[in-house]
Amino acid sequence: MKIPKSENRFDSYNSCKRARKTEEQTLGNFILPNSNGRRESVAIFGRIFVCTLVLAFIPLVKIAAQSAQQWKLPDIPWAFPIRDKVQPVIDERKGPQHVPGSAKSYTQDQIDDLQNPPDWFPDEHAPMPKVVAHGADGGVLGCASCHLASGLGHPESANLAGVSAAYILRQLADFKAKNRMGEAMNDMTENLSDEDARQASEWFAALKPNVWQTVVETDRVPKTFINMHLMRMPLPGAGDEPIGKRIIELPQDPAGAESRDPHSGFVAYVPKGSIAKGKEFVTTGGNGKTIQCAICHGPSLGGLAEVPAIAGHSPMYLFRQLYYFKDGSRHGSMGALMKGVVAQMTQDDMLAIASYVGSLPPASEESFLTAPGGQTSASLVAEANKQKAVK
Ligand code: HEC
Ligand code: HEC
Repeated sequence: MKIPKSENRFDSYNSCKRARKTEEQTLGNFILPNSNGRRESVAIFGRIFVCTLVLAFIPLVKIAAQSAQQWKLPDIPWAFPIRDKVQPVIDERKGPQHVPGSAKSYTQDQIDDLQNPPDWFPDEHAPMPKVVAHGADGGVLGCASCHLASGLGHPESANLAGVSAAYILRQLADFKAKNRMGEAMNDMTENLSDEDARQASEWFAALKPNVWQTVVETDRVPKTFINMHLMRMPLPGAGDEPIGKRIIELPQDPAGAESRDPHSGFVAYVPKGSIAKGKEFVTTGGNGKTIQCAICHGPSLGGLAEVPAIAGHSPMYLFRQLYYFKDGSRHGSMGALMKGVVAQMTQDDMLAIASYVGSLPPASEESFLTAPGGQTSASLVAEANKQKAVK
């Protein structure tokens, strides 16, 4: 059966609370591997029906904008996750949840309230702007729910910690203008005000980049499934399988990921040989197949002025972006600079490059040291804005 569009969305699940109840009640009946197709359909259609009722309150403008777009999530499930239709019943996580080192506790329902995400370690960051903690009217959810209160995010979202504010702002504008696709963020930015975008960008840019995943080369990986929050999780007791040509990024501790614990990182399994192959492309340009990344992304790939940091970011995320630049769905004002970089890349090349870049230590913006003419990122941004205003 073709998976309905709503299956790909973060928000249709989470913002339709009533639907979610129905879904949990219904999905609770299914246990892998003996599910039957008809009952699955009941779960899905039940949800769609309830969601339809809720969505009926969203202004027509939104529906018009969506039907105008032809975009479809690429069919590469390891990189562009789709939640599994049948969810294994594992651990219900009843009652208050805790994470190591924090005195706080939240129930799983509180953790999954995307307008009120958990803040396990409030002393580790500046106070969050309202939009980061709670979102805003018009379907804007709290940024810290998917990107975490550390900004480090999960592989299915994105790492924003210490990424330049000018770059973040531009991405928000690109998502809003649909120059960059990704349903969660297209929806999130639709009604995002300029002021909220500015505050969120500055807050994430001020966070410290950190080591967030280790990259491990392997032939075999645990069998996994995609949970209701689009997180890939190991399937307990299911054994392992060949990795094939995939990146399988898993939480170091599944409970930590479910808790949205900003201290609980990831392991990215990649096929053997990927890191060395990727390094060749990144550092030499691979005999003219691509362009050395450091020219634009800075010597340690920690970002240069408005060019983003990529070192140490999630390999699965990095792969998605290379793919989007190549298939043309990411084509914002600065995206043109990546066009030539990816033009001749195969998916295997992208996988290798993403593995290598993800294995590097994260670095913060180098623009203050190395921008041409000794300019600081702030002065470059001011210059770019002036040029925009002239146009
Ligand atoms: C429901 C989950 C969710 C919420 C809430 C959310 N995001 Fe995202 N965000 C994502 C996903 C998923 C991506 C990755 C899209 C992709 O793979 O290209 C993303 C990507 C981004 C990026 C691009 C990162 C990069 O390196 O280019 C930015 C910037 C961003 N989000 C900012 C925000 C801000 C600001 C908010 C709050 C207003 C927010 N997000 C709320 C899911 C979310
Ligand atoms: C000519 C300059 C240039 C070169 C060379 C270059 N990049 Fe980029 N890259 C950019 C710019 C500019 C952006 C931001 C595009 C945008 O705003 O959408 C970017 C964005 C990216 C992103 C998306 C980051 C994110 O957080 O979403 C990835 C991944 C990336 N580049 C990887 C690479 C890799 C890998 C190489 C080398 C093989 C490379 N780039 C070489 C200019 C360059």
